[in-house]
Amino acid sequence: MAELGHEVLGVETDPDKRDQLVAGKVPFFEPDLQELLTTHVESGRLRFTDDYAEAAAFGDVHFICVGTPQVAEGMGADLSQVYSAVEPLAPHLTRPTLVVGKSTVPVGTAPALAARLAELAPVGADAELAWNPEFLREGFAVEDTLRPDRLVFGVTSEAAEQTLREVFATALAADTPVVVTDFATAELVKVSANAFLATKISFINAVAEVCEVTGADIVDLADSLGHDDRIGRKFLNAGVGFGGGCLPKDIRAFVHRAGELGAEGAMSLLSQVDDINQGRREHAVQVATSMLDGSLAGARIAVWGAAFKPQTDDVRDSPALWIAGQLHLRGAQVSVYDPKATQTARRRFPTLRYAADAVSCAQDADLLLHLTAWPEFAEVDPAVLRDVVRRPLLLDGGNSLDFDAWRGAGWTVRGLGRR
Ligand code: UDX
Repeated sequence: MAELGHEVLGVETDPDKRDQLVAGKVPFFEPDLQELLTTHVESGRLRFTDDYAEAAAFGDVHFICVGTPQVAEGMGADLSQVYSAVEPLAPHLTRPTLVVGKSTVPVGTAPALAARLAELAPVGADAELAWNPEFLREGFAVEDTLRPDRLVFGVTSEAAEQTLREVFATALAADTPVVVTDFATAELVKVSANAFLATKISFINAVAEVCEVTGADIVDLADSLGHDDRIGRKFLNAGVGFGGGCLPKDIRAFVHRAGELGAEGAMSLLSQVDDINQGRREHAVQVATSMLDGSLAGARIAVWGAAFKPQTDDVRDSPALWIAGQLHLRGAQVSVYDPKATQTARRRFPTLRYAADAVSCAQDADLLLHLTAWPEFAEVDPAVLRDVVRRPLLLDGGNSLDFDAWRGAGWTVRGLGRR
């Protein structure tokens, strides 16, 4: 928002993160974000506080950008952070204000939140709510935010729409498509987008199972499907399945909400998508075990990748870290290397061994697992690595390495759903 020309005050209640932000330091890895933060902290256009009264006095528009994780006991979304942001802000809203929800929420959340906002705000219903879902991808967050592929405004008044049009004037001037709609649709667009992407991945992974038993090749198949522009090649990469802080918990929250609403079709379809996805991780463990002749006890396994995908240090619901952890729990000695996610992985899974680089990770390994497709892994020379490991066995969980090159260098290579 500062880059787009607005004056911005960020409310951060975690004192460590706030201190880092005030000092101009991004508290996680996200490409290009550090440069933007430095620029706008220095320009003074971006500041941080923990004070809701200050935020209320400052802002004409308040974005709610907090997380909605899966509840501890069940599949639904935990909305406590959303309410914890709105409830302390609202009592300070003494002039007309637009509060804009960005968080991914179950359909039906916005009307309840709007009522709570109007009830708590001294200005009453002039503290208005809008819903403006966020579609950014980790690793491309800056690009997706500055140049979104679409904007969705869930509003209940023309004034709210007008305010959002002013906030997003730069994107609108660049002809970004905008859909102006009601709360329920705006809430559902986000969960449906993630549910569709998840379904596409589980679809190709289900077909990969068939490829594996028939000797067909999932990469040739996905390439062939992708030439049909009704299908498209994106999100047809078979492998260890999807992870991260969004897709897994969002489809579960959708299943839960669909169940509450009696929408049986959505519930059963997305339950299957989740089941297929979870099955991929266990399948990868089984394939790894079979490559080691059925015995993990004492085997030395090198794992390349811990983040849930490349270009992030996020290990939330990461297939790579789950697989590494399971192999360790089942008796293997596991060494993990990730270019950016070692710290976050170590916090989540301290008992694994973490290597300093890709080659030392593979030292004396009986099996190498390539689980997060960072570009640097594709650059390692398989002939050099052949002399580092104990046995030249590779399982490529993302099917992205050059199988011919590795086989040519003397490796036995397996993918998931590949010849
Ligand atoms: C996702 C949505 O893409 C984004 O629009 C939304 O705002 C937040 O959730 P993100 O979680 O950053 O973004 O990751 P994404 O790039 O969608 O990948 C999700 C998972 O799917 C990763 O684990 C990735 O490795 C996996 N994936 C992706 C596949 O397994 N196969 C594919 O073909 C594509």
